[in-house]
Amino acid sequence: MVPTPATDVARDHEDAQPADVARLREELVRELRELKALVTPEVERAVRAVPRHLFIPEVPVEKAYAAEHHYVTKKDEHGVSISSVSAARIQVMMLEQAGVRPGMRVLELGSGGYNSALLTELVGEAGEVISIDIDEDVLDRARRLLPAVGYPDVRLVHADGEFGAPEHAPFDRIIVTAGAWDIPPAWVEQLADGGRIVVPLRMRGLTRTVAFDLDGGRLVARDYQLCGFVPMQGAGESRTDLVLLHGVAGEEVGLRLDDGQQVEAVALARALRQPRVERWSGVTVGGFEPFDNLDLWLATVLDGFVLLTGTVQARERGLVASVSPLGVATLADDDSFAYRTVRPTSEERTLFEFGVYGHGPNADALADRLVDQIRVWDRDHRRDQARIEAYPLTTPDDDLPAGRVIDKRHRRITISWP
Ligand SMILES: C[S@@+](CC[C@H](N)C(=O)[O-])C[C@H]1O[C@@H](n2cnc3c(N)ncnc32)[C@H](O)[C@@H]1O
Repeated sequence: MVPTPATDVARDHEDAQPADVARLREELVRELRELKALVTPEVERAVRAVPRHLFIPEVPVEKAYAAEHHYVTKKDEHGVSISSVSAARIQVMMLEQAGVRPGMRVLELGSGGYNSALLTELVGEAGEVISIDIDEDVLDRARRLLPAVGYPDVRLVHADGEFGAPEHAPFDRIIVTAGAWDIPPAWVEQLADGGRIVVPLRMRGLTRTVAFDLDGGRLVARDYQLCGFVPMQGAGESRTDLVLLHGVAGEEVGLRLDDGQQVEAVALARALRQPRVERWSGVTVGGFEPFDNLDLWLATVLDGFVLLTGTVQARERGLVASVSPLGVATLADDDSFAYRTVRPTSEERTLFEFGVYGHGPNADALADRLVDQIRVWDRDHRRDQARIEAYPLTTPDDDLPAGRVIDKRHRRITISWP
């Protein structure tokens, strides 16, 4: 289902005064800089050059230039978003990670229009942008919008991105704009010397856009950032499993499992119905301070790491204390689980303390282990970045860095810490 442009809004766009659009684009640039998504003058020039509102004619001009606004163009039969024009903040952040320079050949996996236009500005006349999508409806939209807005040279290809675009390879940059679970061989094979892949990669349920440089047979991350993306379709599709612990409509609580993890659903559902134990860590975080690296640390060091999911009603009913669309870091064993939560340290609610709630016969031990690792992260790794690498499947354990090894279908992903 692709929504057709609402006539009123389309008319609104036609009526938009050039001065208003110019002002909105300037505000977008300022906001993206404040958010630290926009860094370099090259990407800034591209954002200034491309009229984003013309790629989202369905929404009012103000919304089109809001840094965090993404527009869903298609949902599947279950209501899951499968195509969108991503938020400008995410697109710009990934372009900065990619470091696209004039003259480069870039493969964009997942089309839409706006991002291809930004890439066209970055590669200039001597470069080339190839954008592939698995969905004809999405391509039709891009085929219509790109030439109309002034970017007729983007090559649009209907294909499953799992296999890249061999007829157009090699690429200096491959930018993946759907959530991937693995790095298929085609992407590496089609990469030019010195090439880079930017990909939203899911590791133990956590997705980060990772910028990988090729270094011999392995890929080494130079940067990674928190993000959320629509799921990959086609041969590389691999969704997380959801195990329901509480199935009452509207107040569901579950565990999200990834990378072949398994849990005892009946025992853990029973555990949720038992009173909880709690621990407080003494570790605090500011209200606007990101702590996604804490979760990456916990996913690295804890064997039973899974993600707790729940609805806002489930939290209001007191079934769980924390919910997040990205999932809440949890440690589970056969019959018990414990999850991370926070409480404000003062009435002003500017500072929050991390704690842990546990349920089930082994709740005390799990809560102790989780709270210990929150303290270890705070003491030893709070200012560190993880080292993420992707090795060929044939790499023996002894040749991998110490840390977490996540075996995928095509690659062995490692997460290690200094
Ligand atoms: C978030 S949207 C694209 C966003 C666009 N690049 C942008 O930045 O606005 C992700 C796209 O990936 C496409 N996609 C998903 N799996 C794919 C696959 N295996 N090969 C090619 N495209 C795929 C979807 O059809 C969807 O249009």
